[in-house]
Amino acid sequence: MRLIIKYLSLLVVVVVVVVMGVVMGIVEAGGGLSYDFYKDSCPEVENIVKTAVQPIFLTDPTASSAFLRFIFHDCQVQGCDASLLLDSGDQNMGPEMESIRNFGIKKRESIGHIKFLVESECPGQVSCADVLALASKEAVSFAGGPSFRIPLGRRDATSSSKEMADAHLPAHSINVDELLNVFMPKGMDLQEIVAILGAHTLGVGHCLNIVDRLYNPEEGEEYTDFSHQFLLRLACPTRVPFTNLTFALNDLTPIIFDNQYYRDVMNGKGLFGVDSNIGMDERTRPIVEQFAEDQDTFFQVFSSAFVKLSTTNVLTGDKGQIRRQCNRVN
Ligand code: HEM
Ligand SMILES: *[C@@H]1O[C@H](CO)[C@@H](O)[C@H](O)[C@H]1NC(C)=O
Repeated sequence: MRLIIKYLSLLVVVVVVVVMGVVMGIVEAGGGLSYDFYKDSCPEVENIVKTAVQPIFLTDPTASSAFLRFIFHDCQVQGCDASLLLDSGDQNMGPEMESIRNFGIKKRESIGHIKFLVESECPGQVSCADVLALASKEAVSFAGGPSFRIPLGRRDATSSSKEMADAHLPAHSINVDELLNVFMPKGMDLQEIVAILGAHTLGVGHCLNIVDRLYNPEEGEEYTDFSHQFLLRLACPTRVPFTNLTFALNDLTPIIFDNQYYRDVMNGKGLFGVDSNIGMDERTRPIVEQFAEDQDTFFQVFSSAFVKLSTTNVLTGDKGQIRRQCNRVN
């Protein structure tokens, strides 16, 4: 009898430990983010952001592309922590914005404006990183792409460094192997990786980023469609641009989130090396074809890829801080 009780109590202990482990595992697996994170502290945050972005998108048709690029450039450098929005770096290092890889990033101050509106409803509760992620997601649906929800609860960085941005933001000429290295660690499969690059359905590329491929291409990177190349040379006529203001369109419909990007890639009209590479590599080409034909599947896979991009490597719990102003630490 004693022995049975002893074994029973041991069993209870084992069961309790296992159950606790599973529960903690589930919490961990979510990375501390959740879909109802602000349920008590700021229940209306998603609506506040949704309302706040409308006048910005309506008055500036290029704002949705600017916002969509934010999620990649924020999350790719020390995680999704709004480090992109900080105006200064540590000590004598410059902030991320000083990296050449962040050339063309604009409208960061708009996120500060949206955050200001959120602060007036729920002071000190919602991070700049969450506001940035929500605004970026709204850009997709505003431009005609899918609507979906993202988990919240990110916290903000207290530092930003140009060196980190230089090291982690990929060059425009990367091949498919390098592309996989960027996104596989975020848990994306091949289809999601091709889908997330579909963000290039919005916006523009500046001549500064185009002239290398146009006038001095790496091997295999040459433009293959000559009318496309001709038009790009009209837009960017000199090897060294006279100004940094000149640009070309990412796809034929740069303010509409659609699957035109994939048709352009199929037709040899990808703007950057990375864009045309997914059309040529035998692993990714079938997926490009699929998305070019089937916009619904593209939208579905893009949504899940966006969630993975925006939830990998986040500060949660008591790490980082909730910045009151997005452009500087508290
Ligand atoms: C690893 C892959 C990627 C590379 C090499 C890359 C590279 C570039 C480059 C060179 C530009 C042009 C910037 C300029 O000249 O102004 C650009 C624009 C853009 N990228 Fe990417 N990108 C990548 C992935 C992504 C991802 C994952 C997203 C978003 C989820 C994204 C969203 C955008 C958007 C929306 C623009 C247009 C920005 C505007 O018009 O203001 N890109 N990208
Ligand atoms: C264009 O921008 C680059 C990077 O910021 C800078 O080094 C260069 O001086 C600028 N060129 C002109 C003509 O303003």
